[in-house]
Amino acid sequence: MQHSPFRSTLFPLLSTLTSFTLVMSAMGPAKARPALDVPYIKTPDAVVDRMLEMGQVGPDDILVDLGSGDGRIPIAAAVKHGTRGLGVDLDPARTEEARAAAQQAGVADRVTFRTENLFDTDLSEATVVTMYLFPEINLRLRPELLKLRPGTRIVSHAFHMDEWTPERHDVVASNDIFLWTVPAQVGGLWRVHVPGHRDFVLRVWQQFDRVQATATSLDEHSIPAIEMKVKGPEIHYTLHTAEGPLTYTGTVDGKKMRGTSSVGDWTAEKM
Ligand SMILES: C[S@@+](CC[C@H](N)C(=O)[O-])C[C@H]1O[C@@H](n2cnc3c(N)ncnc32)[C@H](O)[C@@H]1O
Repeated sequence: MQHSPFRSTLFPLLSTLTSFTLVMSAMGPAKARPALDVPYIKTPDAVVDRMLEMGQVGPDDILVDLGSGDGRIPIAAAVKHGTRGLGVDLDPARTEEARAAAQQAGVADRVTFRTENLFDTDLSEATVVTMYLFPEINLRLRPELLKLRPGTRIVSHAFHMDEWTPERHDVVASNDIFLWTVPAQVGGLWRVHVPGHRDFVLRVWQQFDRVQATATSLDEHSIPAIEMKVKGPEIHYTLHTAEGPLTYTGTVDGKKMRGTSSVGDWTAEKM
């Protein structure tokens, strides 16, 4: 009987493929690796310490680390400063690692880790946001960070946010660290009232935390407002009037401001 050469070479091949398929199905479906926007690289401990110091984290803070890796930043904040924290990472292996590390450090009741895309993370409760990402990721996050509660601190290892210039830049063992404070949104027109004085209108232009303003009294006499500064929810400006400089300090709360000045307490409403 003649053997087909085709049969004799195909059978061992089919048999090998069948065994391979059986072994693979016994192992279960291969887990797809998440497509990360940034690879996993750890922030050195000395840099973590400086980031927490720059962010002035304390027991009343809620720190969110975007792309939390092994959880070292929220865990260090909880251990050293009593901070509550959340870490999110797209890679479930990192989440597992971070949860185990939090248990080991005895802070599992203060820190939470979730497998989540950082672009989906609700940051509304955060008072401090930390990041070790990429410049383009920082820039994609920037509009959302600027919407956070005024006074929220943002601390980034390695990368900045272009025109939103940091208020502090430290270098620790050749690692750049940048700090920003989310400013109140003060751009637009405000009517300012000081009891016993004429109301005036502040016209404010704002880009990130840089502000410029003019003041116009209701009799249309224009006065330049100089040295206007905004930091977090706090505002400070000086009007140069014929009677001399008038200094105003106060806080911004959405569409209202209130504070003290050299001529009395003042309030303002967004027009
Ligand atoms: C450079 S590591 C920083 C880890 C940690 N924050 C630290 O400073 O040690 C960046 C982390 O971001 C995670 N990551 C990348 N893309 C992500 C995304 N879209 N959403 C959430 N995490 C992401 C990676 O898995 C990695 O753990």
